[in-house]
Amino acid sequence: MNGKPEIHQQINRLRRILEYHNHRYHVLNSPEISDAEYDRLYRQLLDLEGLHPELVTPDSPTQRVGAEPQSGFSKVYHEVPMLSLGNAFSEAELQEFHRRVTSLAGTDDIEYVTELKIDGLAVSLTYENGILTRGATRGNGTEGEDVTSNLKTVRSIPLRLTGIPPSRLEVRGEAYLPLPAFRIMNESRADTGQDSFANPRNAAAGTLRQLDPKVAASRPLAFFAYSAVIDDAKSDITSQWDLLAFLMDCGFLVNPDRKLHRDIKGVTKYCRDWEKQRGTLPYEIDGVVVKVNSLAQQKKIGAVSREPRWAIAYKFQAATAITRLLEIRINVGRTGALIPYAVLDPVQLGGVTIKSATLHNEEDVRRKDIREGDTVVIKRAGDVIPQVVGPVLKKGTVRNDPFVYPERCPVCDAEVQKEDDGAFTYCLNRNCPAQRFESLKHFVSLEAMDIAGLGPQTLEKMLEMKIVTSPADLFSLTSEQILLLPGFKEKSASNLLESLEKSKSRDFPHILFALGIRHVGEVTARLLADAFRSIDNIKNAPREEIMAVPGIGPETADSINGFFRIRENLLQLDQLRKHGLRFELSGERKVPENNLPLEGKTVVITGTLDGYTRQEAKDAVAILGGKVSSSVSSKTDFLLVGANPGSKLAKARELRIGIIDANELERMMGKALK
Ligand code: IVH
Repeated sequence: MNGKPEIHQQINRLRRILEYHNHRYHVLNSPEISDAEYDRLYRQLLDLEGLHPELVTPDSPTQRVGAEPQSGFSKVYHEVPMLSLGNAFSEAELQEFHRRVTSLAGTDDIEYVTELKIDGLAVSLTYENGILTRGATRGNGTEGEDVTSNLKTVRSIPLRLTGIPPSRLEVRGEAYLPLPAFRIMNESRADTGQDSFANPRNAAAGTLRQLDPKVAASRPLAFFAYSAVIDDAKSDITSQWDLLAFLMDCGFLVNPDRKLHRDIKGVTKYCRDWEKQRGTLPYEIDGVVVKVNSLAQQKKIGAVSREPRWAIAYKFQAATAITRLLEIRINVGRTGALIPYAVLDPVQLGGVTIKSATLHNEEDVRRKDIREGDTVVIKRAGDVIPQVVGPVLKKGTVRNDPFVYPERCPVCDAEVQKEDDGAFTYCLNRNCPAQRFESLKHFVSLEAMDIAGLGPQTLEKMLEMKIVTSPADLFSLTSEQILLLPGFKEKSASNLLESLEKSKSRDFPHILFALGIRHVGEVTARLLADAFRSIDNIKNAPREEIMAVPGIGPETADSINGFFRIRENLLQLDQLRKHGLRFELSGERKVPENNLPLEGKTVVITGTLDGYTRQEAKDAVAILGGKVSSSVSSKTDFLLVGANPGSKLAKARELRIGIIDANELERMMGKALK
């Protein structure tokens, strides 16, 4: 004996252990050992295989990387064609699909499975006796390319199946690049002067067609399995739902957000919900795939040309588009902040023409290196204002110089000053017309004083005619003055006077919010009103006392103190008071009562929440009765998600934890503090 059988056994044991931990990490998302421990075991296997190269097999975990660069890809013939799907662009088209299905199946009794339509590339994986022997792209459906070496680098693709696999199994699914990896990849490409990819799908396609598998290995693709070629006669799988369960048993990653529906009703809701929530996923989806669940019914319904008639892709409205950024311009906000925005070559996005998009702030433009003349990706999620995601860089194109921020206010030419860690520059002139206009707009808005009949054009005209220069002036308006404004008649003028009068009885928190103190949003205004009861108490409160209010941080406290140090603001307050506005809470102290929405719940926060600093969000949760914890576990009740969420989101999804956003939090606060 030369010890070979033992070595062989040892190698096999190590391989099984490594496969197990690979599966726990990349498929189940619940590792049991540290990366260092995994690496140690891996090196042990590598060493043993180095000593005994004759024992290396293609399914060894060491064979994921290391294949030699290729000169090209050989063609692969798909014996069972890889079909594509018909599209539905509306709920009506989904209903139409359902009618067709019931008529072809000869029954109304149809179950459906809905799956997220991952925006990646369809690939086919062939396993012989449980070992991955071939990985291919879809190509044109009948002929694709052999990209086995590249697909082997994908950690969520098992090199060897678990359970008792059939002698031959072809699994199909979507290879994709998760968003965090996509962002990192594009950043490093930009740093090294390479073209950036316009979207994760192109990046995934480029990766699969890499001739050097080492390059593919450096880009962490992932894979969701969604179908398999099975011989009905030999298999006891009778539905798509069971097929997905079988794929999981084989060791594949199957998307956790799949759903089985007894009828079409739930399908429509699923599509609608995911169209709204798509932005919370750590990968891109472009729709929902709706499939008839029963394989027998699928067979009966059949396919025409290259499309099955038992499945359809419900396509979402496009969320991103590519266009040219013509010019960067500056808006001056209510607080004097110089806010950059992009003037775009008009482009269609989600059914509307987009001509401009926000660039958030100076820091953002610098970080993303957005320049005039760039080709840019723009994004729209839900109803929010379109945003510029970033430039699409092509090698060899000559770019303009980075945008230079003005040294004076572009509206009033006053001096400007950088603040807030350089993210924003502010115009220091309190009389800046732009600031006056924005303050008035804010003051009359629905969430503030709720004064109907004062649109932006009217406000602008009032300022221009100098009949109004500050919010307090609104309450001295006479009907003669109003009648001088374009578009006003007797009736509309008296309506405006009436709504001005009515607004005087607005409660204190709304009035406080209407003042437009920097960092004092609706929620903060309510917190301040509750804690201090009157404007005078707030005015006289030292910084520490303001900061002691749960939900209020140092920046906000400074801004509040600063507001009351300015003489003009105090004069304005005086005038408003004279007009009868209430600057104190009336009646009983209102504290949130029982039925706090987050009573006894554990909440984890991730990402940047719109309208809240991290501290404010924590305090808001506390006010609502909840407890904030830092990591997601089975004990977490809710994940509070903002923009650019971290890995916590994926974890929460995996554990099926409830997900809420800033709007939801705001709603809860609104209810609890009413
Ligand atoms: S099923 C016969 N399921 O969408 C069914 N496709 O045009 C064929 N896709 O080429 C596909 N997620 O690349 C199916 N859960 C999913 C999918 C999915 C993404 C892609 C796939 C296919 C295209 C359909």
